[in-house]
Amino acid sequence: MTHKVLLSLLLSAAGLSANAQSATSRSQLCPTPPMGWMTWNLFKGDINEQLIRETADAMVSEGLAAAGYKYIFIDDLWQGGRDIHNNIIPDPQKFPSGIKALADYVHSKGLKLGIYSDAAQLTCAGATASLGFEEQDARTFASWGIDYLKYDYCNAPEDSATARQRYHAMATALQKSGRDIALGVCEWGQRQAEEWCAQVGGQLWRTSYDVRDMWKDVVKQGGMGILDIINVTAPLASYVNHTQWPDMDMLVVGLRGKGGPSSDLGGTGCSDTEYQTQMSMWCMMSSPLAMTNDLRKLTPADRRILLNPEIIAINQDSLGLAAQRKVFNNDYQIYVRKLTGGRHAIALLNTADKPLTLTADFAALGIEGKHQVRDVWQHKQIASNAKRWKGRVKPHETIVLVIE
Ligand code: GLA
Repeated sequence: MTHKVLLSLLLSAAGLSANAQSATSRSQLCPTPPMGWMTWNLFKGDINEQLIRETADAMVSEGLAAAGYKYIFIDDLWQGGRDIHNNIIPDPQKFPSGIKALADYVHSKGLKLGIYSDAAQLTCAGATASLGFEEQDARTFASWGIDYLKYDYCNAPEDSATARQRYHAMATALQKSGRDIALGVCEWGQRQAEEWCAQVGGQLWRTSYDVRDMWKDVVKQGGMGILDIINVTAPLASYVNHTQWPDMDMLVVGLRGKGGPSSDLGGTGCSDTEYQTQMSMWCMMSSPLAMTNDLRKLTPADRRILLNPEIIAINQDSLGLAAQRKVFNNDYQIYVRKLTGGRHAIALLNTADKPLTLTADFAALGIEGKHQVRDVWQHKQIASNAKRWKGRVKPHETIVLVIE
């Protein structure tokens, strides 16, 4: 009898499967912010297995996978109800080969597959959700080879205690499934999830209502622009550690006003400078990076922003901290983030509608001494033995420096 067979016999006598025994502790499931691509903002319910396969192909051929983008997150409207045994099933028109075959394909490319459900009977878009079926659905997701679950909170009671209980139920079910499946808490920053996400078994928590393809909500229709999300997330920096990430919602980089749900509520599109700011600040804050533009049609500007290895390195820095906002006024904001190797990243964000000359005085920002300064968007060292940086920042631009 091999050791493995003996172990299985012992575990099954104890009521455990070898898989359940080997599941990773939940706190270790996302050691850096997950990076990938999500279906919702551009495609909404217009999704199918062909789109997922072609997106997986593009993730590899465009060099996105090599740059760190590993997940394909299938969002809402993949579901086809439940079968006679109450097993959740995919929409047979959209996914005729089933999700397992799709996961196998995605995995064969070295990528991971995420899926979506909701802590109520119906999802936000009115599809079948998981309340009361947590263990059964977690087992199904595990059997398909799912790696990540975005768990939404539409149609659920408002109070925080119920939310905590429902997220905990799903995290426990995922853990018992025996497969390593990360859990994204998606209650839109309304119940202080930053306080309890880790306790209930989640790895990241949404900080805001849904992102729209806009700079800020000037029309006051309740949509969240890039700057709105930066402003609600900045105060949460101290909750971030190397296991817990603030989910600032999807990147709108490259959508240019063409994006399904992200074009609602005034989401008419952003400039490339504003998309650069989104990438900069999502990386500074350690947010997950979920692209939503059509990866089969990348432009040079999309590539420049999404594939910048220096800004991605800040996002994935293994110290796993978020940037602290040190300066905040009507015209600009300055952030500092500690990096490995005693380095710091500094972001200067011009929120005004006019160009500004800004100064980052390193000592005033808590960084003593003289330093080498690298501009991560220009990809070059711009100073040595420097005690400050001073320069022009365009309207809505973010300059990111690494200080060493
Ligand atoms: C909510 C979420 C979005 C998306 C939709 C899907 O609005 O916040 O990110 O998942 O539901 O219906």
